[in-house]
Amino acid sequence: MEQETIQYRPNLASCTPVVLLEPKRIQHHLQPPRSVPASSALGTALKRGHSHSNTSSVSSSKGGPVKRNKLGIRNYDYVEFYVGSAKSVAYWHVTALGFHLEGYLGPETGVRDRVSYFLRQNRLKLVITSPLQPEAYELHHYVTKHGLGVKRWALEVEDVEYAFQHAVDHGGIPVQTPHRLEDDHGYVSEASLKVYDDTELMLVNHDHYSGIFRPGFEAASHPWAKQSLSVGLQQIDHVVGNVRENEMELWSNYLDRVLDFEDFIYFGPGDISTRYSALLSKVVVSKDKRIKNPINEPYEGLKKSQIEEYLEHFQGSGVQHIAISTQNILHTIQALRSRGVEFIDVPEDYYRRLYEQNEKLPMDQKITEDLSLLQSYGILCDHEGDGYLLQLFTKPIGDRPTFFYEIIQRRNGAEGFGQGNFQALFESIEREQERRGNL
Ligand SMILES: [Fe+2]
Repeated sequence: MEQETIQYRPNLASCTPVVLLEPKRIQHHLQPPRSVPASSALGTALKRGHSHSNTSSVSSSKGGPVKRNKLGIRNYDYVEFYVGSAKSVAYWHVTALGFHLEGYLGPETGVRDRVSYFLRQNRLKLVITSPLQPEAYELHHYVTKHGLGVKRWALEVEDVEYAFQHAVDHGGIPVQTPHRLEDDHGYVSEASLKVYDDTELMLVNHDHYSGIFRPGFEAASHPWAKQSLSVGLQQIDHVVGNVRENEMELWSNYLDRVLDFEDFIYFGPGDISTRYSALLSKVVVSKDKRIKNPINEPYEGLKKSQIEEYLEHFQGSGVQHIAISTQNILHTIQALRSRGVEFIDVPEDYYRRLYEQNEKLPMDQKITEDLSLLQSYGILCDHEGDGYLLQLFTKPIGDRPTFFYEIIQRRNGAEGFGQGNFQALFESIEREQERRGNL
């Protein structure tokens, strides 16, 4: 495939690249498919969908041999949020979550219609973007409809053209075909595919770029750029989608087929439910398990589930939460709480049960952290085989009850998602829903 290069020019009205198309293989997308109607995307995926056998009970493929991903996916790369006020949201990530502001794009760098802040903490990379001018209609439309949300999340791949072509050949819905963004520091290659309504899944490679993030960004000179020290957030552990009824199979099949992923765990009817509500969940993973994508959909219950509340306020399917790993969750949560980050409350009897469970375990499987500290910081723990995971969920970070973060630490090879905490967690979320009048 002939890849086109875009020379970055500071006076460009927008940093959004022109969508360039390979002429033979996807000619039917000669008009940039930036706004593919949901119905046509779903129809395409449904026609090509296939069924999976493990659809009736909890199952797992863990323990099998590690396989290479056919697309050459290395790891998660960045996540871009569209928000109403990028400066405020970036400032909160710096002062409350310990990110460093490394790059900035906006009128001062020659881009007139939007601003973007590039934030980093260890291997975590975020971009926070807001529209400035009416012509940034795509941003305005997203923020008006969804509020603060994840517009795109990126996978770093060895070869963007190869990965994109493999994805499209296996049913991937193209949004941006492969192109290069270039300036004096080299070039960044990227392409994107559709996933969950207005969300884009980026394929990127920046092996040949030495500048800040990508062409168009310059070093940030804001006085709050390094306002706070890192709280030990390391990298993305998993990215979770909330989708409408009957979409979970559709999108899990899509990701399996398009990205060469495979089903990892399935939670069917009755596996995750409270007195009032229920949900279905399937986790798909890359074959080396570096990329993990749980997908939730609502299931019938007496009252409105947290997934339904999300879908109603996000106005559709999208990214529900991003889990971020830490190597010392006690330090991370203590630091985040001291900076005013709000977390979901854990039920009072949760720790009584955790103490009892831990007592019964053999010495080599006991929790090594001080349980009284876990309790005082409100951290959840879930045992799994010889290992366990520690996790905690923030309250929604924006104004709508939609996107939130999870902080997670895995011990001794734990690969799950806190299944044992679902009951306590969802009852806690329902109490929050009730306070908002949304249960
Ligand atoms: Fe999670």
